[in-house]
Amino acid sequence: MIRSRLALFAALLIGACSGTAFAGNEAVMQLVAKAAADPATRTALVREGDAAAFFCKNCHGDKGIARYPEVPNLASQNPAYIVSQIDAFLSGTRRNEFMQGLMKVLGDREKAAIALFYANQPATAAVAPPPPAATAGAGHYKRLCVSCHQADGYGTETFARIAGQQPTYLRLSLKRYLARSGERTNAEMSASVAQLGEANIESVVQYLASLK
Ligand code: HEC
Ligand code: HEC
Repeated sequence: MIRSRLALFAALLIGACSGTAFAGNEAVMQLVAKAAADPATRTALVREGDAAAFFCKNCHGDKGIARYPEVPNLASQNPAYIVSQIDAFLSGTRRNEFMQGLMKVLGDREKAAIALFYANQPATAAVAPPPPAATAGAGHYKRLCVSCHQADGYGTETFARIAGQQPTYLRLSLKRYLARSGERTNAEMSASVAQLGEANIESVVQYLASLK
């Protein structure tokens, strides 16, 4: 899916940076915490993030609503979760060649600023649900998923916000955890999707995509 011109541009950006080894996210999380406690810091970082995300916006959208169906929305995502996934790409526990390379260009302050910028954008429902699928999906979600992703699907610092997420991306992600392909490894998620069963993935996807 990576548009070739974007990939070329990214290769140039990555080439221009030293690409230091991943050394943890303490400094980034300290900035995120500071922003939560201090509105002036938050406003400044959100503004910086709007500018620093110029390249991300090609795929994740100007305001965090993705431009392509296989790209996740970042609007209203928890900033701590965004930082955790940037780290997962950098440490290699989450595998996506393009994203892994691109994350190396970001400094600590840019990571915090971009996470806070996207977290600050309003979410919209990705699709209107077909009623039968949404009803079945709501039941499965309530039974198997709310303990971590919360009743409203907004998640927490550790558990992704999945309400209003792109249906194609949700489908891909859930099948990946089920297949245990190694692109993304999370025992809790693999167990949850195994309990859900492949046949029920679609109804949950439709339900989640319809939430705001
Ligand atoms: C060429 C398109 C493209 C660009 C540009 C891009 N991304 Fe992504 N991003 C993706 C795709 C595709 C995924 C999903 C990868 C997967 O399925 O594991 C992703 C996933 C992510 C995730 C994980 C989200 C989640 O819900 O788990 C984060 C965080 C992220 N990108 C941040 C960024 C940031 C920050 C930038 C800019 C520095 C950026 N991306 C630029 C395509 C892009
Ligand atoms: C025990 C806690 C737990 C339960 C229960 C759980 N999840 Fe998750 N989920 C997680 C964690 C932790 C992650 C992030 C894992 C990672 O980094 O790969 C996640 C990630 C996801 C993602 C990827 C989000 C993104 O932005 O990339 C989706 C989609 C998802 N869960 C859907 C579900 C659904 C649907 C259910 C119910 C069938 C469910 N989860 C049940 C903990 C849970």
